[in-house]
Amino acid sequence: MAAVSTEETAPQVPRRKEELQEAINNLRQKRNAIILAHYYQDPEIQDISDYIGDSLELARKASGTNADVIVFCGVHFMAETAKILCPEKIVLLPDLDAGCTLADDCPSEEFAKFKSKYPNHYVVSYINCTAAVKAQSDLICTSSNAVSLINQIPPNKNILFAPDRNLGRWVQKQSGRKLTVWPGSCIVHETFSEEALIKLKIKHPKAEVIAHPECQENLLELSDFIGSTSKLLNYAETSPSEEFIVVTEPGILHQMRTKVPHKKFFDVPGIDGCSCNSCPYMRLNTLEKLWKCLHNMEPKIEMEKNLRESALLPIKRMLELSP
Ligand code: 13P
Ligand code: SF4
Repeated sequence: MAAVSTEETAPQVPRRKEELQEAINNLRQKRNAIILAHYYQDPEIQDISDYIGDSLELARKASGTNADVIVFCGVHFMAETAKILCPEKIVLLPDLDAGCTLADDCPSEEFAKFKSKYPNHYVVSYINCTAAVKAQSDLICTSSNAVSLINQIPPNKNILFAPDRNLGRWVQKQSGRKLTVWPGSCIVHETFSEEALIKLKIKHPKAEVIAHPECQENLLELSDFIGSTSKLLNYAETSPSEEFIVVTEPGILHQMRTKVPHKKFFDVPGIDGCSCNSCPYMRLNTLEKLWKCLHNMEPKIEMEKNLRESALLPIKRMLELSP
């Protein structure tokens, strides 16, 4: 019997970039899909997406879309959050291995043991964690709303914060609240070199230093402004300064250079001058994998109903309380 070659079983990846872009656009229409991208994605993915944002904005966008399919160009916890918020939709992640060290640093069984040592604590988890950790939390936060949400918790409540120790320390300082913090960290934000930052400051004395709160304390102390990726972008657009040293994953520089092309942006290398300031997980997604996932309608985010429903409650609470 002759083998049947179907569109689904024998995908021919368009070779030229323009063909690939056209094929993605056609599939996006055919599938009624929306492409959401985080600022740390490759510029070519950002350029073809329908919406680019930080974790909070992407979660909001996912929950409000009319599309049948959400293609999440980001990392697993972001796509998982979209699935929790929109269980009836198909959520695709171009590369299922796009994880996050913060989520990996906080296994749910270990977290349950940690939590049991602190009874009567209100548990706030950074969105960079697995659904199983979210399900054990009272409230989810992102780097954009963490301080505001912590400030809304009644002062008589003890707070447990997971999984980023750098964000936890920064939120503690900003809010004046004592937090018991799970000791996780992001490999990318822990890699920035203080020495390289100081050298850049000497070379560009007029530049403002803007940093993500996942960075270590010594770098945050050298910064003029600290905020989520969207807040950094907004600051770069609205500040009268013409030059910025940006202490976060350099994917964000693409939007900064697009929005304010007359300004100058410098990224900070990792310790020993390595290029490990790029998130290896975010960068697993490529234009080709984006096309493939829209073509094959996989890899899909699949979740067990109970887990999904338990993780939804603290995310919903965040969206209600978030400014
Ligand atoms: P934002 O919420 O600021 O976009 O941060 C997400 C993230 O993973 C930073 O490393
Ligand atoms: Fe996770 Fe760090 Fe990558 Fe953000 S930059 S997705 S926190 S590993």
